[in-house]
Amino acid sequence: MSVETMSIFSPELASRLDELVERYPMKRSALIPMLLYAQDEIGYLSDAVIEEVAQRIGITALDVRNVATYYSMLRFKPAGRFNVQVCTNISCMLRGAYEVFDHLQEKLGIGHKGVTADGTFSLEEVECIGACCWAPAMQVNYDFHDELTNEKVDAVLADCKAKAQEGVR
Ligand code: FES
Repeated sequence: MSVETMSIFSPELASRLDELVERYPMKRSALIPMLLYAQDEIGYLSDAVIEEVAQRIGITALDVRNVATYYSMLRFKPAGRFNVQVCTNISCMLRGAYEVFDHLQEKLGIGHKGVTADGTFSLEEVECIGACCWAPAMQVNYDFHDELTNEKVDAVLADCKAKAQEGVR
């Protein structure tokens, strides 16, 4: 059966992916945006997501994995509702990223790549997120937080918890 009749994605996402595939002279140029949109909808790059994206582009699932594993923003396991990514690259490290990371580990009770028992938070250490001038920095889903202190981190976590209770992402 065709991708159209068997898609695991919502009709909205399926048509967005159709459009992306047609946008570039080489279909595989659409791979990363397709994976990001798919991850946003499904939560992570499951085998089924990888299979369908590969089929839409006309490459193998292995081709997709070979590219996707290079990017820290793409994940192969479900993350928490709020995925906290702390940069520990050089600029952030020199300005206290590991203190921030340790603080988060303690507050959340999880380590690198961990997910809290209630599924609200996941935590990971990542490479540069492009906010070096405002180090130390972290990203929570698509929001950036910089010039971090433990107090700022606590405020971000409190805000996320409040959103989780309201059902806001
Ligand atoms: S080194 Fe942390 S954002 Fe670049």
